[in-house]
Amino acid sequence: MTDSRTAQHQRSLDDPDGFWLEQARSLDWITPPTRAGDWSFDEKDFHVRWFEDGVLNVSANCLDRHLAEHGDRVAIVWEPDDPKAEPKRFTYAQVHEEVCRFANVLKAQGVQKGDRVTVYMPMIPEAAFALLACARIGAIHSVVFGGFSADSLAGRMEDCGSAVVITADEGRRGGKTVPLKTTVDEAATIFAGVKTVLVVKCTGRDVPMTEGRDVWYHEAAAKVSTDCPPEPMKAEDPLFILYTSGSTGKPKGVVHTTGGYLLWAALTFRTTFDYKAPEIFWCTADIGWVTGHSYIVYGPLASGATSLMFEGVPTWPTSARMWEVVDRHDVSILYTAPTALRSLMKEGDDIVKATSRKSLRLLGTVGEPINPEAWRWYHDVVGDGRCPIVDTWWQTETGGHMITPFPGTVTKPGSATLPFHGVEPKLLDGEGKELHGEAEGNLIIARAWPGMMRGVWGDEKRFFDTYFRTFPGVYTTGDGARRDEDGYYWITGRVDDVINVSGHRMGTAEVESALVLHDDVAEAAVVGMPHDVKGQGIYAYVTLNSGIEASEDLRQALKKHVRHEIGPIATPDAIQFAPGLPKTRSGKIMRRILRKIAEGEIGALGDTSTLADPSVVDDLVKNRVG
Ligand code: WT7
Repeated sequence: MTDSRTAQHQRSLDDPDGFWLEQARSLDWITPPTRAGDWSFDEKDFHVRWFEDGVLNVSANCLDRHLAEHGDRVAIVWEPDDPKAEPKRFTYAQVHEEVCRFANVLKAQGVQKGDRVTVYMPMIPEAAFALLACARIGAIHSVVFGGFSADSLAGRMEDCGSAVVITADEGRRGGKTVPLKTTVDEAATIFAGVKTVLVVKCTGRDVPMTEGRDVWYHEAAAKVSTDCPPEPMKAEDPLFILYTSGSTGKPKGVVHTTGGYLLWAALTFRTTFDYKAPEIFWCTADIGWVTGHSYIVYGPLASGATSLMFEGVPTWPTSARMWEVVDRHDVSILYTAPTALRSLMKEGDDIVKATSRKSLRLLGTVGEPINPEAWRWYHDVVGDGRCPIVDTWWQTETGGHMITPFPGTVTKPGSATLPFHGVEPKLLDGEGKELHGEAEGNLIIARAWPGMMRGVWGDEKRFFDTYFRTFPGVYTTGDGARRDEDGYYWITGRVDDVINVSGHRMGTAEVESALVLHDDVAEAAVVGMPHDVKGQGIYAYVTLNSGIEASEDLRQALKKHVRHEIGPIATPDAIQFAPGLPKTRSGKIMRRILRKIAEGEIGALGDTSTLADPSVVDDLVKNRVG
């Protein structure tokens, strides 16, 4: 397996055109492409295009082409939040009908090819239908995770000029309700460009509807037909935008296009998970993250697979929920995040052992480095020592898996192992010099691959500056990695000011801007700190305005403030009130010192003599929290 893998990988690098044109035949093209990759990472001639003369439609690839042979196969199994409620199952024929109807509703609301449609939804089947409906008519979806605040939602809608948002009255999660429609109403007071709010009935809660702007989905759906021909799209037409945090500024709208992305999602799905119908594949991510896009919707459906979609959370009503869902639906492949495993591992093995899990064949992880202890627990306890583990390294920007084992790859706990076909990783030192053999450095990708992002929405320069300027001629991932004697990669984590909280990216700058918006705050600096369950937690140093007293109440108020500004995932785990921050004489905050203090490594602060006022460090060390 590893040998044929190596041979395929070599071929994909030696003959990229031949390899990728051949792979592209696995999609259903209206006009098949005659060209594969056409790209340059050089500043003067920067461009990335794949299968440029090909024409296809993503929803037709995910649905229509399966109808003749597999129309009765279940495409989506939906497991509700409440285990006492009934799961739902939709065959490919049914999803096709739902998507055509949904697409016609969008058209009836005036949505046209190229328009941006925001999706702010709970984990219900309509969320998947909404994505595929956009794809069907050539609208560009921008999914905003349902845990983000009104401000975050409004900011993302404004950034991509989205006038239409699809939402639900409320969502359900872990026995609680999430007031989605109320948040959309608040977002519409911030961004006046919100013209249409399409509301799916989920909990049935009575929500105020604004005349002329808000439309109930079920009412609109009753008025349209289920006949909706798929729009022919060029391979390089945008399919979606997904906002993600970077080290500076506001979240960026990562743009993925039609042909290359779909091929990447589908091929990685089939290869990494070695999917075989009629297995049930369960990716536990939310559709609001790229993992949900690629491995709940596009990868599985383009492959004719059965994808399980879960409305709830792993810990409700009890920590047995994941294993009960596995048994209830006979899940063969489970794809989840290390943070979920760590939180369940704490509850002990008996809860897991009380369930069967006999259906499991393969286990996957994604989102952050998995510590060997969690890896072994996943392997030995969850998988009863029977199931291979695929630790998949990738990013929102990469569209799908980049470094990952396949089921036959010899694994090592904590290593994402080897590059996927067509992926050429390298390690560079700080000066950009390539490191060979066993080494640790900046992880870069030396050539374009079909699934890579094509731009930052509305900001071409930011795309180049963020990913191609630090090390000219290559894609910079922002991660560090080590390569061992077998050529295996071990991701060491972000090398920039991005923190990874429970597998979700958070920019320190974003949390800082939220904090300084508070009236009592003069200055803030945010760094990551080690966290048992989340992987990394958020540690904030806050300098208050003069005359403001530090207090526990204020600390709680600041946490609440950040939750409200960005969303619960951005809530600081620790806030330290600091009369001063360590700055160089030119006023630059020395984050290295702040990171060390947050990590509790106060013996290793390094040289502090270049600070404008070295004495601030003593105070920071003395008043460290946690
Ligand atoms: C960052 C990307 C990939 C979809 C979910 C997160 C970290 C992701 C792994 C892994 C070590 C990982 C990296 C990466 N990461 N997977 N298997 N091992 N680190 O997507 O929000 O774009 O975050 O997540 O640091 O850069 P994202």
